[in-house]
Amino acid sequence: MIHFNVITIFPDFFHSSLDLGVVGKAIQAEKITLETINPRAYTEDFHQSVDDRPFGGGDGMVMMGEPLMLAVEDLRSRQVLGEVIYLSPQGHVWNDDWARKTVQRGSFLESSLSSKGENSGGRQSDGKIYFTLVCGRYAGIDFRWIQEVVNCEISIGDYVLSGGELPAMILIDSLARFVPGVLGNAESPHNESFYQGLLEAPQYTRPRLWREQSVPEVLLSGDHKKIEDWRKQISLLRTALLRPDLIEDHKRQEAIRAALGWAEKQSSDELAVSGLSRGEIQKIRESLGE
Ligand SMILES: C[S@@+](CC[C@H](N)C(=O)[O-])C[C@H]1O[C@@H](n2cnc3c(N)ncnc32)[C@H](O)[C@@H]1O
Repeated sequence: MIHFNVITIFPDFFHSSLDLGVVGKAIQAEKITLETINPRAYTEDFHQSVDDRPFGGGDGMVMMGEPLMLAVEDLRSRQVLGEVIYLSPQGHVWNDDWARKTVQRGSFLESSLSSKGENSGGRQSDGKIYFTLVCGRYAGIDFRWIQEVVNCEISIGDYVLSGGELPAMILIDSLARFVPGVLGNAESPHNESFYQGLLEAPQYTRPRLWREQSVPEVLLSGDHKKIEDWRKQISLLRTALLRPDLIEDHKRQEAIRAALGWAEKQSSDELAVSGLSRGEIQKIRESLGE
């Protein structure tokens, strides 16, 4: 079981969206639990201020270290702090492989990542895994607090959002999918994009003919081995076309060469309905230096 503490000045962000879908089910089944902590509760002034002007001038306000520190100390005294993760555009960029390993290890950290502050992993003596996700706002958080407390900074991509709440929800959703028992067999993450370093093959559903567009014949054949092979070949080829950065290793490139040979034997219509044209097959060939 994973418990998330989310430190945020906008707890309402979480209450509505996490009730829904797969994450909502995981919360209901207590596979994951979540508590929001508002740092304003740790202030003493009338306005419950959590931010102040930046030293040296500049745009915007900066979140102060003290309310956040008191929130962290409170969680630590309750022995539910675990690893402290700051959602930040300056962090390591999050990905699916990292989500899977985080759930397996009970920790966001691997040796290649620098860990700041004290860290004993997310697993606590009660056997549960605890993570504390910190959502910044305004121009960010006082750097001294980050240095003092944060074990790992995570970005969800090279763009700047106005707060860490959406990134925190993205983290929770992507982690929840790897918690055993959260996804049913039919929704297993094993076949989905990135799990094996590839994009998933396209999916189709009823009706068989939709607005004059058919589906690949093989998917109607009932031949599971052939279907599995089609999915593998199309997955390799579409990854090479759409995300060449994912196929840089030598073995993968060999598999793609084999998939190109497979594509030669398919009719143009069958390839087209699978999302590939002869021109794109040629483009993949050229990208492999053929
Ligand atoms: C406007 S941003 C602050 C950006 C900061 N001034 C900078 O330039 O690095 C406010 C907060 O949004 C969150 N945030 C923004 N973009 C993010 C991203 N790509 N990944 C994760 N968190 C992000 C962080 O928590 C951040 O403290």
